[in-house]
Amino acid sequence: MSIVYDQQHKLLTLTTANTGYQMQIDELGFLRHLHYGSKTGSQNLAYQILEHDYAFSGNPVEFRKERTHSLDIIPQEFTSFGVGDFRVNSVAVVNPDGSRAARFQYVSHEILDGKYTIPGLPAAYDNGNEAQTLVVTLKDDVTGLMVRLYYGVFEKLDVITRYAEFVNAGEETITLDKASSVCLDLPLGNWDLMHFWGKHALERQPERSPIGHCVTTVGSTRGTSSHQHNPFIIICDHDATEDYGDSYGLMLAYSGGFKAELENNQINCVRAVMGIDDTYFSWKLGPGQSFHTPEVILSYADGLTALSHNYHRFIRHNICRGKHHLEKRPVLINNWEATYFQLDEEKMFALAKEAAALGIDQFVLDDGWFGERYDDNAGLGDWFVNYKKLPNGLDSLINKINGLGMKFGIWVEPEMVNEDSELYRSHPDWALSEPGRTPTFGRNQLVLDMSNKEVVDYLYDCLSTLLKEHNIAYIKWDFNRSICNVYSHVLPADRQGEVSHRFVLGLYGLLERLISEFPDVLFEGCSGGGGRFDAGMLYYTPQIWLSDDTDAIERLIIQGGTSYGYPVSSMGAHVSASPNHQTGRRTPMYTRGVVAMSGAFGYELDLTRLLKRDKEEIREQVQQYHQDEILIHRGLYYRLTDVAKGYYTAWQFVSEDKSQSLVNLVVTSPQPTPDPLHIRFKGLDPDTLYRIKEDKQNITGAALMKAGYTFTPMMGDYPAAQLHLSAVSCK
Ligand code: DGJ
Repeated sequence: MSIVYDQQHKLLTLTTANTGYQMQIDELGFLRHLHYGSKTGSQNLAYQILEHDYAFSGNPVEFRKERTHSLDIIPQEFTSFGVGDFRVNSVAVVNPDGSRAARFQYVSHEILDGKYTIPGLPAAYDNGNEAQTLVVTLKDDVTGLMVRLYYGVFEKLDVITRYAEFVNAGEETITLDKASSVCLDLPLGNWDLMHFWGKHALERQPERSPIGHCVTTVGSTRGTSSHQHNPFIIICDHDATEDYGDSYGLMLAYSGGFKAELENNQINCVRAVMGIDDTYFSWKLGPGQSFHTPEVILSYADGLTALSHNYHRFIRHNICRGKHHLEKRPVLINNWEATYFQLDEEKMFALAKEAAALGIDQFVLDDGWFGERYDDNAGLGDWFVNYKKLPNGLDSLINKINGLGMKFGIWVEPEMVNEDSELYRSHPDWALSEPGRTPTFGRNQLVLDMSNKEVVDYLYDCLSTLLKEHNIAYIKWDFNRSICNVYSHVLPADRQGEVSHRFVLGLYGLLERLISEFPDVLFEGCSGGGGRFDAGMLYYTPQIWLSDDTDAIERLIIQGGTSYGYPVSSMGAHVSASPNHQTGRRTPMYTRGVVAMSGAFGYELDLTRLLKRDKEEIREQVQQYHQDEILIHRGLYYRLTDVAKGYYTAWQFVSEDKSQSLVNLVVTSPQPTPDPLHIRFKGLDPDTLYRIKEDKQNITGAALMKAGYTFTPMMGDYPAAQLHLSAVSCK
């Protein structure tokens, strides 16, 4: 049993393979958090909390004389509101009488087999006897507002998921102004925060700093998870490294605005709260109604590598779904950086023909095939073919491409509309915009109101017709601006605070309908590259275009930063032209291949204009990727160097049985008298002798991991190397 209740001490203990989590119902019914971290068995950990009289911290009436009980000090599973906990709170409410308070006390709990689901929202799933669920119900006796805390315990996977459901069991409407998914009070320690910031075309740059005596907020007010911040944070011991040290991950499976708050309080205790961004949020909860928060995926491990492995495994097996998520992915050619909007049937077919000759599996027709779309000023919303560009229709191109033995994929951006479109001319009120205000544009487009069922149904009709009428194997689903003017023309004034979240529910509902109706289609997420790269989208789209920056050297940090939380199989990565279109940098074809192969691989350049030797190299890369894909996508991923420091970057894949490994190295800044390119490999079996294909040496795992390996010095612009290791014998 991974969830045990000790009735005598009112303790609830959750256990996974390597971690323990404990909570206790205290004498007043508050749910205390006692532990999350390494396993501690069934030991009652309540002794850790020493209660004192902490002045200015407030005491519940039952303890007003002793002054030893204060919600401001006690670690809790979920906070009450306005009753004496002055730290960052999990919740904010406005009661029917205008008062702002909620005192949540224990009512009951249930332990269930299997994993809970969340209505309308992504939630990790159980593949069969993998998980148990704990539900703890707390209630505010004055208003009747209840909060049900859900815990999904994935024993073997070292993951605990959490979410909160608010239920109005009172008789009048209550307003939620903040509804977080999780509150986690950490053990005493010296904690660093790692988060992943960025911008368009430079996403998920890792940054690590101590958690100070202030509230640190990482989040997005952009209506999407965003390029600027990712809904994944790591809290780790100040001395933690890749290989050891307490490391916690908090990952929100949500694609809208989010907020993670961290506070080191007056007695050096750190609290983390994470959930939907509350900047524009306000939700009216009528009697009998429920509000479900998105799920947070928690994991604890000794060292950052082990933490990443927990997330990689979990996202691949328990978040991503559908027939493609664990399968080999097609190597694709996308026409975007080859032609941008200047596409026509002849050019597209010429590109596909070159690609087919090089062994590429799938052609993707990007932006510009529909409506009056000649640049980014018009056409979004009109999801019917542009006959001026494709006079014989889509099927003519698709048939020709299929005739080459290739599959066909297509780009859409369903949640957007241009003012210059038939859709906008017929339904201007379908775009988000405040009455009397000219809306703010982004890429000259407006955002459709996904909280409006009519809009979602219209998009469903357009997309399902497209998929039914044509032989389409893949959809690239883009989203190219941040959301503002958050106002829906179908919701009343007092419900406008619900629009952002209802938008996300509308998006998820649409995706769910499409993936259920078209299970053979591979959906790829995208938002101007990686602006919506999160576990919420990965529930519907097992891969996401990682970044609009295709420069191989910049990708080392973008892919490396993303790897802390997400598996390489989720990262769309393409070889593009040199000089690169975003940075102007020239890199060798070999290096571009080495970097892009650590992802869901493809090409995005004009193959018709390449030299013969480049084409030959591409043919070899495609063949090699097909051979290595299983090792890359299913193997364990190791960062061998700091992704943002040093003059070279190296990373490694090791098969779960340790019999195969692939080591990758890219020199990012060649040196005249170079320090040795010396690296200790990881994850191998010490007693196994490995054959290194490229230099034909046989070396033991112990030697490669403890003594290391020295690469031959490399000169020139951004050289790279790969080593394939295979076990030849074990002791
Ligand atoms: C942004 C995407 O990230 C690109 O790959 C491309 O699809 C463009 N949008 C098209 O507008």
